[in-house]
Amino acid sequence: MFIYENNTLFCEGVAIDKIAEKEKTPLYIYSEKALIENFNSLDNAFADVPHVICYSVKCNSNISILKLLARAGAGFDIVSGGELFRVIQAGGDPGKVVYAGVGKTQDEIVYALKSDIHLFTVESVGELDRINDLANRMGKKARIAIRVNPDVDPKTHTYISTGKKENKFGLDIETAREIYKHASGLPSVKPVGIQMHIGSQITQTQPFKNALDKLIPLIGQLRSDGIELEYVDIGGGLGIVYKDEKPMTAQEFADVVVPMVKPLGLTLIIEPGRFIAGNAGILVTKVEYIKKSGEKTFVIVDAAMNDLMRPALYSAYHNILPVKRQNDRPTKPVDIVGPVCESGDFFAQDRVIALPAQDDLLAVMSAGAYGFTMTSNYNCRVRPPEILVNGTSYSQIRRRETWEDLVRQEVSLKESMS
Ligand code: LLP
Repeated sequence: MFIYENNTLFCEGVAIDKIAEKEKTPLYIYSEKALIENFNSLDNAFADVPHVICYSVKCNSNISILKLLARAGAGFDIVSGGELFRVIQAGGDPGKVVYAGVGKTQDEIVYALKSDIHLFTVESVGELDRINDLANRMGKKARIAIRVNPDVDPKTHTYISTGKKENKFGLDIETAREIYKHASGLPSVKPVGIQMHIGSQITQTQPFKNALDKLIPLIGQLRSDGIELEYVDIGGGLGIVYKDEKPMTAQEFADVVVPMVKPLGLTLIIEPGRFIAGNAGILVTKVEYIKKSGEKTFVIVDAAMNDLMRPALYSAYHNILPVKRQNDRPTKPVDIVGPVCESGDFFAQDRVIALPAQDDLLAVMSAGAYGFTMTSNYNCRVRPPEILVNGTSYSQIRRRETWEDLVRQEVSLKESMS
């Protein structure tokens, strides 16, 4: 949905420079059409099995985006009470919410029980007992799935790999079986599902196949233990193109998963985030200065690591495109950096691009997932606004923060009386 027309980058039917002129930079721009198409492509690919797509709220939690996806039929994968609050604010159905996370607090569990979420993905026996206890006191029965750590290599960045035995997530297969038995003896929880999530930005189908090869026999064992499940939740993790990856398509993913899952007779849950939002959004930034120092050329832009953490945190690659393509510009290797006081504050290093000029606009691509949600106010920078484009019009779905917002929660010391 981001394409050039007459050398100007457009989001759907709207020129990026027109939005930037009005809304200023830095700013996030999302395509409604891309979000919905990505969601539908997964939905269609899994048409052969009963399924629920629980969009992973952590990747982009703007309530307008949640509303859009809820309307398209999405459920939600959450990891905190705050995310549940957002889903409810957006009019999402708590009955389609799955709640993962290793450290759910009492208050969060109570809120989720009150909201009648679909299920808790339980990651430890301590959590299971706590949910049972709280549900009991509230006169409720909590639906739960145990998160299994299948110990497979998802072949992705170590920071976003979650299904290897050394990761903090889930429980190994043997322990999981024991905990199901324990759960089935508790009065206020009902084991209804099994869950795994092996990592993020996974481009191949094989890790999913390997993990399911381990998960499916456990479902059989549970049956023989008298535990009949209704749901198999295989998490999220589908990768997208940032540079030159060749990620599996939704159909290729389904072609591996469906034949394995269908014979189980369970409803499939998937929890994609990045696949839906990643390539549906960009971060637009303006060039402030071009600086040459020694051998290096620095393109200093008005966005920074606080606006998009991924390059600083994971050395992640994001394609960077000029909003106005100009053919007379020389190409050369540059570092594209922000104004924050950290050497890690870069969007690209030694990247060969057409040398921009002061005030040019650049688009940092594939920034729709884990972009805005990982922003901070570091260096007392205000968070950027978010814009949602629909056809030839757009709306602001979050305002730019102000300096007043930066100090709003702070309490100033009283003047001393001396
Ligand atoms: N389900 C669970 C339980 C998860 O922990 C995650 C992501 C997802 C679903 C969605 O994964 P996805 O489909 O988006 O890959 N900040 C990192 C990514 C962290 C992912 C954390 N968990 C990044 O910017 O690459």
